[in-house]
Amino acid sequence: MYRTKTCGELRIAHLNQEVVLAGWVQKARKFGGMIFVDLRDRYGITQLVFNRDIHPRLCEEAEKLGREWVIRAKGQVAERSNKNPNIPTGDIEITVSELQVLNPSETPPFTIETDTDGGDDLRMKYRYLDLRRTVVYSNLELRHRMAFATRAYLNGQQFLEVETPAMVGSTPEGARDFIVPSRMNPGEFYALPQSPQLFKQLLMVSGFDRYFQIVKCFRDEDLRADRQPEFTQIDCEMSFVEQEDILNLFEGLIRYLFKTIKGTDIPAMPRMTYAEAMRLYGSDKPDTRFAMPFTELKDLTGGRNCGVFDNAEYAGAICAEGCAAYTRKQLDELTGFVKRPQIGAGGLVYVRYESDGSVKSSVDKFYTPDDLKLWLGKANAKPGDLLLILCGATGKTRKQLGELRLEMGSRMGLREKDRFSCLWMVDFPLLEFDEEANRYYAMHHPFTSPKREDIPLLDTDPGAVRANAYDMVINGAEVGGGSIRIHNSEVQRKMFSLLGFTEAQAQAQFGFLMNAFKYGAPPHGGIAFGLDRLVAIFAGLDSIRDCIAFPKNNSGRDVMIDAPAAVSGEQLEELHLTVNR
Ligand code: AMO
Repeated sequence: MYRTKTCGELRIAHLNQEVVLAGWVQKARKFGGMIFVDLRDRYGITQLVFNRDIHPRLCEEAEKLGREWVIRAKGQVAERSNKNPNIPTGDIEITVSELQVLNPSETPPFTIETDTDGGDDLRMKYRYLDLRRTVVYSNLELRHRMAFATRAYLNGQQFLEVETPAMVGSTPEGARDFIVPSRMNPGEFYALPQSPQLFKQLLMVSGFDRYFQIVKCFRDEDLRADRQPEFTQIDCEMSFVEQEDILNLFEGLIRYLFKTIKGTDIPAMPRMTYAEAMRLYGSDKPDTRFAMPFTELKDLTGGRNCGVFDNAEYAGAICAEGCAAYTRKQLDELTGFVKRPQIGAGGLVYVRYESDGSVKSSVDKFYTPDDLKLWLGKANAKPGDLLLILCGATGKTRKQLGELRLEMGSRMGLREKDRFSCLWMVDFPLLEFDEEANRYYAMHHPFTSPKREDIPLLDTDPGAVRANAYDMVINGAEVGGGSIRIHNSEVQRKMFSLLGFTEAQAQAQFGFLMNAFKYGAPPHGGIAFGLDRLVAIFAGLDSIRDCIAFPKNNSGRDVMIDAPAAVSGEQLEELHLTVNR
């Protein structure tokens, strides 16, 4: 037996017991005639003591121990004279009687501690060492517990976990595919799945009724803090359900996770329509940990010859409570923020509602204090508040104001990581029009069903058709999304034609699904949650990278194994990928 106990389990109740521990040397320090070694494993840290007076030879050996050496120690549990209340094993130590070095270690390139001296790149290169750090390891432990609880909940609801292929065909909608050449089929390619969407629908045709899978998905898109090229979905599909059934069952899943993992009771999740979210927050994933909704001011700004407002289709304000005392510098910073190319606003108008009731603004030349008080009134501003206003084209300006709202929420400390605000976003438009391509795209995917009452609009006003699609949003992050699917081949045909597919193209891309639908497809719908995003929110992380064991960096590289990398000419030849130069 290598060990009888782990480094996390010994307490005062184990006093005088003889134990064997194994683990890594976190640090060793000399103190008079004693050597203290912190021994670490996954479960915790236990202090080992070597006493020169009792075991001089052992002490000599202990003196040689370096950081991250792997050792085994036998000894007796003793009460510490100098207790450490910060760790669960802090009341005891092990008086060592036998020491065995299992493996020495080179000095690690950074310290294996919570506050490590290693930068991001170095830690990623030596990710296996980074994962020894409790802060990193604990995110993966949380991830395990969340996946486990998810399986328990869904199993309890009659869901079956079914694996679907990771080598599939490329489909044109959605993000870019990762492509895999086929040696046995020259000039032909598999794609890695962006999601198991089509397979889970086929499983409904097969009568599986309730399917789920915790599954890797692959998308070749630009990376951000909440996006990785390979990520994990909790992917689900159900038959004989309506939108309401799905919302209830999966709201249950997320509330179950909050309750069992964090001990938090989440109230019933409010529903917000896409149109309302755009009008009030300029985003389909509003952070509702704080209010600060938009106030539309266009109807109050006319007739004063103020070009910025007169020429704008839309003028919207947010009211930053208690921020009237913002300095010139702070306001300049905010103006700089909205003018950044990523945001793209032309400028920022502010109105200060001073505590004494007077009003000062950046448009005093055009508007009287009484004019401005009408704006303040509409925005429910109180003395001491600051109104921040953007104007321009409606869609763009709402988005910009949404970014400013988030920035103000952060500056004002309203986005605490340990508070959770969940909601369902519903009534998405079915289609969105792309001006550049001059065509409609499916907002969710081409199998999403329109709302029954909007079907006649498919012929007359496709842009106004609402979908049976929904997202779950937590703290401003889209953690999941899904829809009720089309199971009527006539509606599916119409959808493909609106998306610009000819009959032949639709048949070539999705023929297998359309054929399957001829053999008794039940009404069905589903949802997929981003497991990485859920874990990141539960753990309060800024990036999903921190809850993925071996993530890619921002250029999509795994710097530890150095992938992607070139392959040999022979390999390319075998795959029929040689380029004639
Ligand atoms: P969707 O594309 O909305 O839906 O994806 C579902 C959820 O997956 C997560 N997600 C990601 N997480 C990390 N990195 C990424 N690159 C990434 N892309 C998506 C998000 C998102 O809400 N088949 C449909 C679901 C359905 O209709 O049932 C789908 O994939 O949290």
